[in-house]
Amino acid sequence: MILITNAVTLVFIIYIAAKGLCHAKQDIEDLRRGCRLEGLHPLLIVTYKNIMVFADKITVPHGERVALRCRELGRYKLIGDSVLHCRNSVWNGTLPTCIPTTAISNYTEDVPPTILFGLPAGSAAVDPSGALAVFPGSILHLECLFARKLGNPEWTWTSTFRQYLTGWAIAASERDWKYRLSIYYAKAQDSGIYTCSTPRGLTNSIRVRVLDVHCPSLPTLTPPLIGKIEGARMGQSATFECPEGHRLEGVSSMTCQYNGQWSAKVPQCVAILCPEVKPANVKLQLLEHNNSYGGRVVFACMWGHRLSGAQSIRCDGDGTWNGTMPTCSEITCAPPSAPRSGQIVEHERPSGKKRGRGHKVGALVRFACLPGHQLLGEASIICTENGTWSHQPPVCEVRCPYPGDPPHGRIAPLKFWYKPGDNIQVTCSPGYVTPFEPVKKPTCRENGIWSGPPPPCRSYRDV
Ligand SMILES: *[C@@H]1O[C@H](CO)[C@@H](O)[C@H](O)[C@H]1NC(C)=O
Ligand SMILES: *[C@@H]1O[C@H](CO)[C@@H](O)[C@H](O)[C@H]1NC(C)=O
Ligand SMILES: *[C@@H]1O[C@H](CO)[C@@H](O)[C@H](O)[C@H]1NC(C)=O
Ligand SMILES: *[C@@H]1O[C@H](CO)[C@@H](O)[C@H](O)[C@H]1NC(C)=O
Ligand SMILES: *[C@@H]1O[C@H](CO)[C@@H](O)[C@H](O)[C@H]1NC(C)=O
Repeated sequence: MILITNAVTLVFIIYIAAKGLCHAKQDIEDLRRGCRLEGLHPLLIVTYKNIMVFADKITVPHGERVALRCRELGRYKLIGDSVLHCRNSVWNGTLPTCIPTTAISNYTEDVPPTILFGLPAGSAAVDPSGALAVFPGSILHLECLFARKLGNPEWTWTSTFRQYLTGWAIAASERDWKYRLSIYYAKAQDSGIYTCSTPRGLTNSIRVRVLDVHCPSLPTLTPPLIGKIEGARMGQSATFECPEGHRLEGVSSMTCQYNGQWSAKVPQCVAILCPEVKPANVKLQLLEHNNSYGGRVVFACMWGHRLSGAQSIRCDGDGTWNGTMPTCSEITCAPPSAPRSGQIVEHERPSGKKRGRGHKVGALVRFACLPGHQLLGEASIICTENGTWSHQPPVCEVRCPYPGDPPHGRIAPLKFWYKPGDNIQVTCSPGYVTPFEPVKKPTCRENGIWSGPPPPCRSYRDV
């Protein structure tokens, strides 16, 4: 359907399109002598040259016709003419209006009866003037809706071709309100006006035209479009759908109209694509980028950076990602503290002045202890990718250093470091002795200083 608000322009465009541009001067003259349609009943559908015009004011050129019908065929009765002909700014015909019928008024006696139609076999289509175009061979039920307790309505028809079966419907759910006329295997001669009259003489009519109309057969559908095609006879329809991952562009169903034209064009299936993902920051990298339906984008951060947010997002059926892009932030390790009685002797500069005092991944920090202290743990530690140091900072413990062997002697035990309270003793080479007996052993004191030097070894001869 086409929705146009500037109806004058539209009508003129349709008119020119239909006639061609060669007589533009005449066309403008025809429009000047045109007729206006305004203040129409809201339920009226106006059709001009097979196009429905949705507007409350329309100007139609001189010599042209419009067709009018009520919405919900049969539930409203059209009073007036269903085709209007414009002659010199005057409509030849009575502007129609729509009045409710029994189905709308809850079956009161003071309104015309509703006429509905059903097709147990065959097909039909409604034309712009409200006539029912029926494909030959169809079985058509015309249902006059009336409260049975108020009496029997009556069907009459203009066709002289044959008599028709009329009477209350049989099914329990219908027999008290549907007074039916059946046309079996419709033929061209069944065309005519069928009128239902109530006991009070109120009437409603339906125009039936039996027409052998076909629409062009539909082309072979290009995959992946899936179609269910009933047929190409007037009133038949085709429905369409697309497989998952595709979006239907166009209508999902179309019918073959009274005029042998399909109501719409065959739709297309368009693959669903999500917008491409383009990280603004070089630190964010894409390990995978697939923006078709069901595809994923997988993110990673440059080395030394941490991802915050979704590691992957998925392209959903509505063409949007199921999440937003993550961000990357630099991983840093908090500055380690220097051990007591020790210090940091070397470290790489903390990263980025603004970002403060953290150390980048891979940064190395080296420690040393004051003299008289032993370093326990790792002398150097590295900032790892999870923002923690490879090891705890070391500790510096008070220790006495190896004091050195005295001349002609050896100390025992032999170590690099001695704990406070440890003693050493001196063993002299053959021919040498320590001066005093018993020997006073040096002790490592709490401050990391030996209580005395190792006793010297002296020659026997000198003792
Ligand atoms: C105008 O309408 C009348 C009856 O409604 C009809 O007989 C007549 O032919 C119409 N004139 C034109 C020019 O269409
Ligand atoms: C319709 O009419 C019936 C009786 O005729 C009444 O019981 C019912 O309530 C009415 N319904 C409405 C919606 O007016
Ligand atoms: C993208 O993802 C879809 C759905 O998972 C898959 O069918 C398709 O093969 C993928 N395309 C590529 C290029 O990997
Ligand atoms: C989005 O899709 C990804 C990949 O399938 C999934 O891991 C993630 O949990 C989804 N996110 C949400 C918010 O559903
Ligand atoms: C840091 O990473 C190492 C491996 O690189 C792992 O053994 C350790 O458990 C991680 N620590 C934390 C706090 O995640």
